[in-house]
Amino acid sequence: MSDSLFPIADAPTAPLAAPYRVLARKYRPMRFEDLVGQEPMVRTLANSFAAGRIHQAYILTGVRGVGKTTTARILARAFNYSLPGKVDHPSIDMPELGVHCQAIMESRHVDVIEMDAASHTGIDDVREIIENARYRPVSARTKVYIIDEVHMLSKQAFNGLLKTLEEPPEHVKFLFATTEIEKVPITVRSRCIRFDLRRIESGPMIAHLRNICAAEGVAAEPEALALIARVAEGSVRDALSLLDQGIAHGGHAGVTAQAVRDMLGLSGRGEVIALFERVMKGEIAEALDLARALHQAGADPADILIELAEFCHFVTRAKIAPVATEDPAVSEIERERGREFADLRDTRHARRADGYAQSRRHFRQDLRHSLEAKKDDHCRQPPGSDRRRKRQAPRSGADRARGDRRGRAERHCLHRRDRQDQWARRARRRRP
Ligand SMILES: Nc1ncnc2c1ncn2[C@@H]1O[C@H](COP(=O)(O)OP(=O)(O)O)[C@@H](O)[C@H]1O
Ligand SMILES: [Mg+2]
Repeated sequence: MSDSLFPIADAPTAPLAAPYRVLARKYRPMRFEDLVGQEPMVRTLANSFAAGRIHQAYILTGVRGVGKTTTARILARAFNYSLPGKVDHPSIDMPELGVHCQAIMESRHVDVIEMDAASHTGIDDVREIIENARYRPVSARTKVYIIDEVHMLSKQAFNGLLKTLEEPPEHVKFLFATTEIEKVPITVRSRCIRFDLRRIESGPMIAHLRNICAAEGVAAEPEALALIARVAEGSVRDALSLLDQGIAHGGHAGVTAQAVRDMLGLSGRGEVIALFERVMKGEIAEALDLARALHQAGADPADILIELAEFCHFVTRAKIAPVATEDPAVSEIERERGREFADLRDTRHARRADGYAQSRRHFRQDLRHSLEAKKDDHCRQPPGSDRRRKRQAPRSGADRARGDRRGRAERHCLHRRDRQDQWARRARRRRP
């Protein structure tokens, strides 16, 4: 066997590439100033730190990817902020990394204990926390328990936590994060300061994506970023995952609107608007042709409906509050055509259709559920089975009349039987 098969010894050693970190992790904010779109919470926290009124337990709630875990880590950092010789007290102003900051942000600090309640639901896990809470922190100033997805704790576990949560040792703070606040018992909620983290508006979201593209040296079309911001529905994590995917999809060309649309299976805004126009004019045949063409080009029928509903809602907003057209997530063609439709005298139909569009976040979910349920139901019923036949063939007028006649006859019979019973009872009573 020749040595050339094993060239490792002689070959110049290439430096090992660092493993890729996804954008969402790479750009996790380290300070409150870097958090996008959560200014009210940051202001409240800044005031309470300035006044020395730092609570012992906080609960953070909001949809996925808006910064709950991130906020919890930044708070843990603020409780323990310390710069030798300069700062030795809790502070929300953290211009440089303190002694414990890096370890806390990387979730590996011995005194900042992160627990995932989704996998530690029981009373035993809580008992461990209560036991350990009695001991002072090893190196930091404050021991912080971050319990993510806290709504997953069992009832017993919540009850076990109550006493410690009400009167924790001085060196302990609790930070809870949850997407489903209503599942957290009121007894727990009442012992915490609550912050509702908001969905991020499209303007700040697009600006955040643009900054990240600039930092990564990736070219991105503004329309592509607007599309990503729209699909992410206010979740920064969703937006960054889509951007990651978009960068991989676009390759050297950067992130283009067409690539994002292809990647997400979205139809072009122009085509959706054309479809909307046909529907509103009542040109059903043309509308069906267009919908079919979109479907054949790869668009998901549910997404077509959702985009139609969104444009419909946009037209209504443009009619009632014209500032809506200045939203940066709206493309130029949408803005122009939206204004055109809004200027038409009668948008009654559009407004009626808008009933769906207003709840478009739920609409997407509802539509998917109902389509899936229909599919399941259809698969479960063997062809020609009774239930299916019944649903396929609605009752004819004659059937209904026959049913009504039968109903009337039955009612009559019952009535007669009741009367007969009554007579019999009376007769029995009269008999000596
Ligand atoms: N408000 C925000 N500002 C900037 N980036 C954010 C924000 N919220 C989330 N992110 C990004 O999304 C990622 C996940 O955020 P995380 O705090 O874990 O979300 P969750 O609310 O689901 O706990 C972060 O690493 C960060 O990159
Ligand atoms: Mg989280």
